[in-house]
Amino acid sequence: MAYAPIPSPAREFTASRRLAALADALDPHTFAALAALRGPAPRLCLELGAGTGSVARRLAEQFPRARVVATDLAEPPARSPLGNLEFVRHDVRCDGFPEGKFDLIHVRYLLCDLVERDRILHDMVSWLAPGGRLVVEEPDHSPVYDSPHRAYRTVTLAMVEAQHRYVGTDSLWARELPAHVAATGLTDIATHRTSTTVATGSPMARYWRLSLAELRPLLPPGLDIPAALREADSATFRDHGFTTVRVSAVRRG
Ligand SMILES: C[S@@+](CC[C@H](N)C(=O)[O-])C[C@H]1O[C@@H](n2cnc3c(N)ncnc32)[C@H](O)[C@@H]1O
Repeated sequence: MAYAPIPSPAREFTASRRLAALADALDPHTFAALAALRGPAPRLCLELGAGTGSVARRLAEQFPRARVVATDLAEPPARSPLGNLEFVRHDVRCDGFPEGKFDLIHVRYLLCDLVERDRILHDMVSWLAPGGRLVVEEPDHSPVYDSPHRAYRTVTLAMVEAQHRYVGTDSLWARELPAHVAATGLTDIATHRTSTTVATGSPMARYWRLSLAELRPLLPPGLDIPAALREADSATFRDHGFTTVRVSAVRRG
C-alpha cells in the first residue's frame, strides 16, 4: 500500500525540520569521512537524494575545482549557494546518468526507503568513472530491538513497521551493506559504523520526535505514546537509536 500523505503546509514544515534534524545528527560524521578521503581530487561529484543539500555544499567547498550535482525528488532551490554546485530534480528510481560519468558518488539515508535499492546500487556503480569512489551511508535499526527502554522501544518499532508497510523501508538492509556493495564488483571496500545517540536535546532525539509526529496517524491504536515521550524526555535517557553503516568502495579499471 502506498503512503500518500495529504500535502499541507504544517506537514511540509515538519518534514523540512525533520530533514534538518537528520542532517544535524549525521553531518559531523559524514564531513569527517569525506575530509579523510585520499586519492586524486574528484572533478565531478554526485550527491543523490540530497535533502537539505548540506553534504552537497560540503563537497562543493571541499573540492572547489570540481562540479557537484545534487539531486532530489523535491523541487530544487531557486538559486545554488555555490558556483560549482548544481541542484537538479531527479528520480533515482527511473532517471539515469551516463555510464562512467562521476568520480565520486555519495548517498545517505535514501536506499533504505526505495524498494528498488539493490538495482539502484548497481546503477550507481555504473555511473562511476574508472577509479571513481562510491560512499553509501544507510541506517541499521537493529539496536532498537534490544533497547532497554520499553515504551520507547515499542513505539519506535511500531514506527519502523509503519515505514516498512507504507513506504517500503527496509530498516535492516544496511546491516548487510558491505556485502551488497561487494556484490556490485567494487573493490577497496571500507566499512564504518556510527552510533547516533538519542538523548534529550540531541539532533537524533529531535529527528525521532519529528518522525513520530509524521508517522503518528499510521501507528496502531493502543500504543502508549505519552509513556514513550516521557521516557525519551527524561534527563538520563540515552539510547543508541540506530547506527549508520558507511561503506566506501572504488571502481577499478
Ligand atoms: C531521509 S532523506 C535524506 C536526505 C539526505 N540524504 C540526508 O542524509 O540528510 C531522503 C531524501 O531522498 C529524497 N528522495 C526520496 N525518494 C527519492 C527518489 N526516488 N529520487 C531522488 N531522491 C529521492 C527525499 O526527497 C529526501 O530529500
